[in-house]
Amino acid sequence: MSSNTQKNLGSTTALSDTQWAQLNQLTPSLTPAQLGWLSGYLAGLAQTQVTATLPQANGPAAEASSPEKFITLLYGSQTGNAKALAQGYKAKLDAAGIAAKLVNMADYKVKQLKNESHIVVIVSTHGEGDAPDDAVELHDFLASKKAPKLPNLKFSVLGLGDSSYEFFCQTAKDFDKKLAELGATRIVNRVDCDVDYDEASATWAQQVLDKVQDELKAKSNSHVVAMPHIGKPTLSVAAAQYSKKNPFTASLLASQKITGRDSVKDIRHVEISL
Ligand SMILES: Cc1cc2nc3c(=O)[nH]c(=O)nc-3n(C[C@H](O)[C@H](O)[C@H](O)COP(=O)(O)O)c2cc1C
Repeated sequence: MSSNTQKNLGSTTALSDTQWAQLNQLTPSLTPAQLGWLSGYLAGLAQTQVTATLPQANGPAAEASSPEKFITLLYGSQTGNAKALAQGYKAKLDAAGIAAKLVNMADYKVKQLKNESHIVVIVSTHGEGDAPDDAVELHDFLASKKAPKLPNLKFSVLGLGDSSYEFFCQTAKDFDKKLAELGATRIVNRVDCDVDYDEASATWAQQVLDKVQDELKAKSNSHVVAMPHIGKPTLSVAAAQYSKKNPFTASLLASQKITGRDSVKDIRHVEISL
């Protein structure tokens, strides 16, 4: 690509002469690895700015009834599995151009519920059929008399659990049952995942996405910025494609022993190119 084409990617992406000069000052001194890293970093930065334009989960913008629709991705996790799945799903929705907000249930303001149009719940079960700590408040609220009717809400629940426990995915079952009783409509049926959850969760995630795609994509266009493809795909988009069963092959850039020459411990500084 010539300098001119690179410079004129479109009216919203073109660099000013000053910006172009600044970029040209920096890039010749960078190694290919640094350029690759910078590309991912900038893409991530842009994604953060896109997300920042969404209405905040608990902020005043969200409380005023907004005609814009988006998915609220609520997760309740004790040891990180549900959180990681929710983060991966957020990246998948971003890549599909569907506006989504990722919210830990512990940070969710329950009065926001009646303003939601679409909720996706990803929640594990702990103790003996108990909700993870972060999910307890919302779980209890939904079971209480204070819970509002939710006739305009569409939702779907993914449960994480372990079928060797007596109360398998109990928290997910509770959320699913309560939301339906309050009048909300299932986007797709709840899926209860056992310890090996990659495949079942990915199938559920795709089914939800397929169902909401048309409805939410059109409405959320104003939130989506088409990124110029500078080089590598953004980390969040790329990350969504990889899993335990489909690992990303990365090259080792450095592996340097950082313990003393005579130490029996072999502790290393490792750099991996993503
Ligand atoms: C102490 C403990 C208690 C658990 N109790 C249950 C249970 O009652 N029912 C169930 O289905 N899974 C149970 N699990 C399994 C977890 O739900 C499962 O490991 C899940 O993937 C954890 O997700 P998280 O990391 O998002 O919390 C339990 C796990 C632990 C460590």
